[in-house]
Amino acid sequence: MYSSQEELFIKAEEFITICYRELNKVEAIDDRLEMIKNEIKHTDCYTHTFEELEHGAKMAWRNSNRCIGRLFWNSLKVFDKRHLMTEDEIFQSLCHHIEYATNDGKIRPAITIFRQDLDESKQVKILNHQLIRYAGYETEFGVIGDSKSVGFTKECEKLGWQGERTHFDILPIVIEVDGRGPTLFSLPKELVLEVEITHPEFTWFNDLQIKWYAVPIISDMTLEIGGITYSGSPFNGWYMGTEIGARNLADSNRYNLLPKIASSMGLPIDSNLSLWKDKALVELNVAVLFSYKEQGISIVDHHTAAQQFLLFEEQEKKCGRPLTGDWTWLIPPVSPATTHIFHQDYKDAFVLPNFYHRQT
Ligand code: ARG
Repeated sequence: MYSSQEELFIKAEEFITICYRELNKVEAIDDRLEMIKNEIKHTDCYTHTFEELEHGAKMAWRNSNRCIGRLFWNSLKVFDKRHLMTEDEIFQSLCHHIEYATNDGKIRPAITIFRQDLDESKQVKILNHQLIRYAGYETEFGVIGDSKSVGFTKECEKLGWQGERTHFDILPIVIEVDGRGPTLFSLPKELVLEVEITHPEFTWFNDLQIKWYAVPIISDMTLEIGGITYSGSPFNGWYMGTEIGARNLADSNRYNLLPKIASSMGLPIDSNLSLWKDKALVELNVAVLFSYKEQGISIVDHHTAAQQFLLFEEQEKKCGRPLTGDWTWLIPPVSPATTHIFHQDYKDAFVLPNFYHRQT
């Protein structure tokens, strides 16, 4: 075997051994490794069984150091779409993913896995950061929409797409297969569940006309399992409230809503001492959690999420797996020190299988 073949086999061996142990199939390891060795020798790569793909994807979630929601790693639904060849088929299965994950608001964690990368140029790629995301436009009066999307929105416009230029235009899906040049698809409106943000007490909150989408589906990360990489592998969970209320809608370089909310609350926004940002931030987060709950859409507050993460920590310990985590991401952006996570150290080691940001 060539050295790259050897390297691949070593990675496969590492994965198969752990995977089959966890699945109580130790007796099958040797035969499977023999098969993989042969396949690598003849084709330079190997193909996961569905079981390996499914468990590998779950392990990748479990190893995602930045994720506070990992207690639920074993409930991930895996859609095996490795057989799809065309952009059209791929788009159809993305629509199916959105529908399955949304589930009328009772959000289900899922991943859709497309064909594995064959080399640098033979990959299935979704160019969007998330399947559902709002466009952003630079204007002379500032950004309309989501400033995070300005670059990608420009790319879409170059490909002939035109948005309505509201603050909440859903971006099209852009798919690239084997470097064939990007193909653009518009998502059917009825597939995209959105939540109007209202406040349980402040009636003026409605006038702000804020909304957000129900399901975050990350689509620009590569999944690596046993030396095989899947560039097209969009996955979702449900939101933690602060992602929306303390970041997307609040960051001064995103929707920057705190000054508006604080002013409407009658707070003096010229005095840091009044803690107007903090007060507005709390009310915005109350509003986000209230609105999602009221409209029957899954969401978790950061206190509950931290408690669930503690259960995950205990579970991992029981299973004898060393816990890894990225403290800077695990602490919630609101009241971090009220959660146990803040007061603990985590080892930020990269363990495979895992997800990472696509290189190109
Ligand atoms: N933070 C990202 C956003 O606000 C979503 C990341 C994934 N979040 C999740 N709960 N699975 O859109």
